[in-house]
Amino acid sequence: MQRTLVVDTIKNVDEKVKLEGWVSTIRDHGKITFIDLRDRTGIIQCVGTNLAKVTTESVIEIEGKVVKRPEKLVNANIDTGKIEIQMEKLNVISLAQELPLPIDGDGYEIDEEIRNKYRYLDLRRPRMTRNIRIRSKVTQFLRNWLTNNDFVEIETPILTKTTPEGARDFLVPSRLQQGKFYALPQSPQQYKQLLMVAGMERYFQFARCFRDEDPRKDRAYGEFTQLDMEMSFVEQEDILNLAEKMFSELVKEIFPEKKIFQSPWPRISHKEAKEKYGNDKPDLRKDKNDPNELAFCWVLDFPLFTEQSKEDFFYGSGQAKWAPSHHMFTSPHPDDLNLLETDPGKVRGLQHDMVLNGLEVGGGSIRISDPKVQEKIFKLIGFSEKQKDQFEHMLKAFTFGVPPHGGIAPGLDRFMMAILNEPSVREVMAYPTSSSGQTSVLDAPSETSKDQLKELGIKVNEN
Ligand code: AMO
Repeated sequence: MQRTLVVDTIKNVDEKVKLEGWVSTIRDHGKITFIDLRDRTGIIQCVGTNLAKVTTESVIEIEGKVVKRPEKLVNANIDTGKIEIQMEKLNVISLAQELPLPIDGDGYEIDEEIRNKYRYLDLRRPRMTRNIRIRSKVTQFLRNWLTNNDFVEIETPILTKTTPEGARDFLVPSRLQQGKFYALPQSPQQYKQLLMVAGMERYFQFARCFRDEDPRKDRAYGEFTQLDMEMSFVEQEDILNLAEKMFSELVKEIFPEKKIFQSPWPRISHKEAKEKYGNDKPDLRKDKNDPNELAFCWVLDFPLFTEQSKEDFFYGSGQAKWAPSHHMFTSPHPDDLNLLETDPGKVRGLQHDMVLNGLEVGGGSIRISDPKVQEKIFKLIGFSEKQKDQFEHMLKAFTFGVPPHGGIAPGLDRFMMAILNEPSVREVMAYPTSSSGQTSVLDAPSETSKDQLKELGIKVNEN
């Protein structure tokens, strides 16, 4: 007999079906037992007598007849509430032990380490299942939208060289060239710009980014995902319009119950945001308790530089006064170019931040495409000759015909957190790293064998 999905049982009233799934709940009324069976499409009540012994969360297979419930027993809370299955056979495929954590509630109160250790169970929680499924719908929509708009999806390397985005790098030792290291990309920034030199014109990728920085509610530790995009022959206006159109259509299609509070999205200068709202990612919602209100806005005219702080040591020697406020490839505003020499603190950058309900859900800019301007920026952020050499390939590439270009990278995790009203990015990731930096289930980082270290030419300081 073929398997029927729970969602399809409604079409099979008075017929015999075979269902497979998990035992969500069991209610034993002596002779008669009620089992709620759950599969990927829903839940259905199954009734039977003299059944095999089973526990909640076991995997079972049942055969039985779909019958209409009497009017007064209809359950309006579930899609299959008008029917139930009269079980004739129950086969236990895999008996579940008692779970180490409850999975029926929303789970916010449960210790994060436990949830992460048993993430495969935590993901059975209806809230988490829903989050992960909606995330997939969102990526599918975005991929289709961009492909339909002439964008090319291109993968870029994970084993690469430092790509500074303001965090520390993760390093991977090389076995073939002992003493040398790859760095995991903080973003595909350089590769996507080089794809513009290659003539791709419109690029996107769901890019995994790796950053060693302190985690926060809206910041995953270790890795997260960006919808990374880059375009040639565009101005900032084109990038803003395209992103705004794409996300507005996404909301309409996948979150029809949600309302975008103002269209076109308000545009606020960095200065105004700071003065009026006290931060650079203002929450413009009228009613912050309304889960369906979406207040998008753009924050523009950021200063190109911020004063270098101790944590920014990875920029240059740490001696220079200035660090890039976005990243070092962001173009200065053309009207402020002469200020680069005289008053760098006053130079505006062609940076744009996409903000949703008080979260920075995306960032991007028009890039520098003049090698001379790029050199000037390197100097201002205190790059030594050696550090400049690390980016020689960019300067070189720009001598072979580079189109004007720019882009944006919406953070997928952060966007999902905002739109689903979740309190942390970890609630929308399948396998997040905990706030103490431990990975889900597989428990990394972990020690490695002496042999492996020897092969890599690495000696670990015992202290
Ligand atoms: P930026 O560093 O601003 O820009 O990152 C873009 C977006 O990525 C998201 N994000 C994060 N999400 C979760 N956890 C994190 N630790 C984290 N860090 C960043 C945010 C942010 O707005 N290469 C540039 C983009 C460009 O210029 O095109 C970049 O990475 O939503």
